[in-house]
Amino acid sequence: MSEFWSNLLSSKFFCQLNQVKSKIWQFAILFIATILLLGWLVPAFSQQPVTVSILMRADEGAQWQPLVEKFQQQHPQIKIKVFAAPSDSNQVEDLYTSTFLLGESVYDLVYMDIIWTPKFAAAGWLEDLSGRLSADELNEFLEGDVNGGMYQGKLYRVPFRSDGGMLYYRTDFLQQAGYEPPETFTDLIEISQDLQQQGLADWGYVWQGKQYEGLSAMFVEILEGSGGFWIDPDTSEVGLDRSEAIEAVEFLRTTIDKRISPPGVTTYAEEETRRLFENGKTVFLRNWPYVYSLASESQIAGKFAIKPMIHQSGKTSGACLGGWGLGIAKNSKHPEAAWKVIEFFSSEASQRQYVLETGYVPSRKALFTDPQIVAKYSYYPQLLEVVQNSALRPPIPQYSQASDILQRYLSAAFTGKMNSESAMKAAAAETRRLLK
Ligand code: GLC
Repeated sequence: MSEFWSNLLSSKFFCQLNQVKSKIWQFAILFIATILLLGWLVPAFSQQPVTVSILMRADEGAQWQPLVEKFQQQHPQIKIKVFAAPSDSNQVEDLYTSTFLLGESVYDLVYMDIIWTPKFAAAGWLEDLSGRLSADELNEFLEGDVNGGMYQGKLYRVPFRSDGGMLYYRTDFLQQAGYEPPETFTDLIEISQDLQQQGLADWGYVWQGKQYEGLSAMFVEILEGSGGFWIDPDTSEVGLDRSEAIEAVEFLRTTIDKRISPPGVTTYAEEETRRLFENGKTVFLRNWPYVYSLASESQIAGKFAIKPMIHQSGKTSGACLGGWGLGIAKNSKHPEAAWKVIEFFSSEASQRQYVLETGYVPSRKALFTDPQIVAKYSYYPQLLEVVQNSALRPPIPQYSQASDILQRYLSAAFTGKMNSESAMKAAAAETRRLLK
């Protein structure tokens, strides 16, 4: 019997059985390993970074980089892709508008000038962000900036940085000639002509006269200082053909006719005027606060100061309220990731860093008196008053067309193609047709 069993055990049959058993084990191990590997790989794939894209002026896109990197360190699962646009606000607006009109926006985030909100919101291109911030949280931002992000009682844009137009002047020239900084249009003309005659300065006053959005922004300040108005957003009344508006155009024309402003001013945007002022032979400049820190590194460092805009005698001045904020495109596939970006960029820490790095104006009230910011820019508390005393461009959905009309007729008046009165009459008539 035992011989029988030993023969059987060593038989071919048992040998094959053992081989099958070991194959089963091998298969089981492979199977378990595959399951484990899949268990690790699937979540890893599902957590692949999402990319949120945004379009902005190329130079500002470069200034965003440090904050973009910081955001990505804190949120490795969200990548921000910044697309570069040209520098005029209306050109950036046109690019956003064309992608929205195509239906599939390339951009998740919309970096918006303060004047775009009504149009973009009315067209249904933006997510409603109203529920995302409490009234207390919104109260930390400048009121004008928050209002600029609202349309029909809903919030579509969270302020990132504010802006306000102001007058830059050369302190050394004025001291040398014994003048106080100008208050009125007449002061500015007189001081300019005197300093030009004395040979101290080549030019008296430089401003943005190119046919683009910056022209409308500059003009609302002169209009406000003349006691006039452009469009009443509540009644749709148009004030462009009133005597105050015509006088505002006349003041700017006078600066060209009397060679207080260079003839090229009708082609200048912000940057051209900044460079001319920094070249050292210009007394006055109208521009935004970003110029301050740049000019402080130029040859006129320590030789200039800022003040609120000039006005007609007996009237008050106003700074055009500018500024940029963030919205979310309605058809974004990543609204939650986009919101994380907005939360990060609009936070106090990010705004502080950005203001310190760039000299732009914060939209959070507390930062105007923030010790770190005031240590670097002593004029910020004064800036708060300027941006709080602002003149608005009309917050209406047809704003870009209204601005386009104004720009065309102002440009015609400044280049001598029309006189001030007929230009403003035509601008008013066309604006009324638009708003009908
Ligand atoms: C600045 C302002 C913006 C304005 C633009 C005009 O960027 O912040 O509001 O529309 O200048 O050029």
